[in-house]
Amino acid sequence: MSTITIRNLDDSVKQVLRERAAARGVSMEQEVRDALSESVAAAPSAQSQTWRLAASPDEILALGQKSEKSPRALVDAGQKTVPAMTLSDKRILLIIGGGIAAYKALDLIRRLRERGAAVRVVMTAGAQEFITTLSAGALSADHVFTELFDRNDEHDVGHIRLSREADLLVVAPATADLMAKAANGHANDLASTVLLATDKPVLMAPAMNPRMWAHPATRRNRATLGRDGVAFVGPAKGEMAESNEAGEGRMAEPLEIVAAIEALLDAGPKPLSGRRIIVTSGPTHEPIDPVRYIANRSSGKQGHAIAAALARLGADVHLVSGPVNIADPAGVKTIHVERAQEMRDAVEQLLPADAAVFVAAVADWRTENSAGEKIKKVAGESPPTLRMVENPDILAGVGHHGQRPGLVIGFAAETQGLLRNAEAKLVKKGADLIVANDVSHESGIGPSGVMGGDRNRVRIVSKAGVEEWPEMTKDEVAARLAALIAERLKTTVV
Ligand SMILES: Cc1cc2nc3c(=O)[nH]c(=O)nc-3n(C[C@H](O)[C@H](O)[C@H](O)COP(=O)(O)O)c2cc1C
Repeated sequence: MSTITIRNLDDSVKQVLRERAAARGVSMEQEVRDALSESVAAAPSAQSQTWRLAASPDEILALGQKSEKSPRALVDAGQKTVPAMTLSDKRILLIIGGGIAAYKALDLIRRLRERGAAVRVVMTAGAQEFITTLSAGALSADHVFTELFDRNDEHDVGHIRLSREADLLVVAPATADLMAKAANGHANDLASTVLLATDKPVLMAPAMNPRMWAHPATRRNRATLGRDGVAFVGPAKGEMAESNEAGEGRMAEPLEIVAAIEALLDAGPKPLSGRRIIVTSGPTHEPIDPVRYIANRSSGKQGHAIAAALARLGADVHLVSGPVNIADPAGVKTIHVERAQEMRDAVEQLLPADAAVFVAAVADWRTENSAGEKIKKVAGESPPTLRMVENPDILAGVGHHGQRPGLVIGFAAETQGLLRNAEAKLVKKGADLIVANDVSHESGIGPSGVMGGDRNRVRIVSKAGVEEWPEMTKDEVAARLAALIAERLKTTVV
């Protein structure tokens, strides 16, 4: 009979045990014994063929013994709120590939179970080099499947049933190797066979070294899988687990994967259903002549992410987008425009609405007259003078409009005097909130900065004061802003 040594548990797990033991007035050893007894009483046997939820993930987590490759912090001890059961009755087959990010898959299991999902795990041989089946089994409260040619597994469940008895297959981390196999229809281990045999939606969360991700072979496989209907979340840009490596290839965070799963299964809460919301995004292009224009560095990433986040919460979202190089967000009605005047016209035609979020970086000025033909450079002549006139102020126009939406939000990108400018804008433009972001070099957000980059640090300026949000991804800013909008609209009459 082996023993569990508390000293060998993860620090984060120990902390939870310590708090629980203190709350109940028992020793940590007693707390472990009780958690074990409770979870064994509630957990299914290892051979169980049914999908069911046993003890709570936290209780099961307390069973996880420290492994040298275990995550630094599986338990978010500071988390006070209980997540909504957005995935109850959903069955997720999680395929864990052999990458360093495999440890995050353990947290993903926990996050999914917290939301009511039943999680069944397949681990590749590679994955087992990084994390143990014991941890994945303890967290999922189910048998972990690893072998294609396992007499018991094949007889009991089998790769076909594994692939069909799920609402969604999630591959996290999706290694370059697993993506290559799936893109080319290989079926030489359990994970690839299950992926080939499934008739269910598949979501992949790639994770690999930036050079592997950028390699033409991986690009081809990614494109093939996309055409085959596989959905993707991430990878993100950032520091790699390997030292001195940074770039695109970092696996999406577990909560981002959960959000993608909820979106695919259309399972998240819908506090904005029945609400019509207008979002503007991207830059505007103000023509100089048929081939030249005045633009700015806005990528549309933040505005598009906000439109998508609002749609996930059930809103009827109309996105008016300037010229961008990113895809139209799913579940959103997108109108493409070029110039500020076109954007203004499109927005006004979309009124009335419950809320409007003006994220687009609209050019303040346009050329008075754009030339009908390409302006030619003539030797010896001085360069043309561009006479500029002011563009319509879309935010102010809607902020003071007869059909003003109940909630009007503007964005203020400033390189200096951020708060002063944002506060002035709030009043002048008739907005309820201004999302202020520092786009100066000093903002220190990523090498490419806020404009065009993937991260943002914003302050929410309202009459009530200034709320500072920490630096996060643009998707996270979007999710948080969408939640804030849902909260605000609760008190607004439709
Ligand atoms: C330390 C180490 C870390 C690795 N990390 C990754 C990774 O993050 N992503 C990846 O695609 N491959 C990574 N590999 C390579 C995979 O483990 C290898 O391609 C393996 O065959 C993938 O197995 P799978 O098909 O079971 O996922 C890593 C290998 C080692 C030794």
